[in-house]
Amino acid sequence: MYEMKQEYLTGIDFIDEEHSKLFAITNEVYELLTNQFIPDKYDYIMKVINELKDYTKYHFNHEEDYMSRIGYRKILSQKVDHADFIEKINGFNSDNIDENQKEALLKLVDFLNTWLVEHIIKRDKMIAE
Ligand SMILES: [Fe+2]
Ligand SMILES: [Fe+2]
Repeated sequence: MYEMKQEYLTGIDFIDEEHSKLFAITNEVYELLTNQFIPDKYDYIMKVINELKDYTKYHFNHEEDYMSRIGYRKILSQKVDHADFIEKINGFNSDNIDENQKEALLKLVDFLNTWLVEHIIKRDKMIAE
């Protein structure tokens, strides 16, 4: 459902691989949303959010290290975007997830896909140029 597409490729292998993993996590959220066999998804939701936090932190650091190594000039707008993402994800970590699990998952999957596609196309693809 949510996956890496040709148009998202930056041409920098490690970045493309890490983006694939981020789409795979987005897909995990979607599968959790559509899974009818888990009555209480709270623990799974928290698990996928933590996975997401860990992996994005890893990916953003990796990307920022690379940009500073090559002297990329628009590193600041990247850092602002990355910090904004982390802040939004941290905002998801609230008590009302438990009460509104379906809504939380819907919001999360929509946020992830929109953010990833937009950031990759508007920002990450420029790094290789
Ligand atoms: Fe990225
Ligand atoms: Fe980025």
